[in-house]
Amino acid sequence: MRLIWYTAMSMDGRIAGAGDDMSFLETIDSVGEPDDAWPEFIASIDAVVIGGSTLRWLVDGGHGWPHGDLPTWLVSRDAQLRARVGDVERPIHQREGDLGAVLDEIAADGHERVWLCGGGDIAGQALALDRVDEVIVTIAPTALGAGPSLFDAFCLEQRRFELDEVRRYGSQSARLVWHRAR
Ligand SMILES: NC(=O)c1ccc[n+]([C@@H]2O[C@H](COP(=O)([O-])OP(=O)(O)OC[C@H]3O[C@@H](n4cnc5c(N)ncnc54)[C@H](OP(=O)(O)O)[C@@H]3O)[C@@H](O)[C@H]2O)c1
Repeated sequence: MRLIWYTAMSMDGRIAGAGDDMSFLETIDSVGEPDDAWPEFIASIDAVVIGGSTLRWLVDGGHGWPHGDLPTWLVSRDAQLRARVGDVERPIHQREGDLGAVLDEIAADGHERVWLCGGGDIAGQALALDRVDEVIVTIAPTALGAGPSLFDAFCLEQRRFELDEVRRYGSQSARLVWHRAR
């Protein structure tokens, strides 16, 4: 199973600003970008793992769970959150505790390409466990100064990745792809 952290971050490595402000995403323009990169990525994914704060942000913003067609593992202790999503096509499995056990369950269920949908908290746990296989990140031309980081943990072991791709994205941003060097 490959765990892929596909996201966007600020120049200073944050995936959201203070108070879950996501307005920095508007500073990423897609001028000249083929619009098939995201559809191709999501079509290649067969399961998703998401943290409670990321799903709460989506639900609170009225987006619901936009990937309800994919089997989803929600990592959260929030007893109300799953119900607040409403009806979805595929099950949302809510789990808590050791993220490694959650990832093992997803692998045992036969999924091969799993999107780590966020946020930085569960990405940090996955990195601590050395379970992050790939990072695909668009870097916005904006510094935020506050907010959760790409791997949001107090203290993590150093992990080295190998660069597969670096390119300009739109007129002001960059897209980088790394895989874990093991
Ligand atoms: N830039 C982007 O494209 C992007 C992508 C994803 C997310 N985001 C943003 O990032 C922010 C959320 O990221 P985040 O790092 O703060 O949080 P997160 O990883 O989405 O969720 C963290 C929360 O999940 C629950 N949780 C985490 N690990 C757990 C475990 N092992 N067992 C049980 N519960 C666990 C805890 O809260 P509860 O138990 O209360 O749920 C925890 O506070 C949001 O603003 C979101 O919009 C941005």
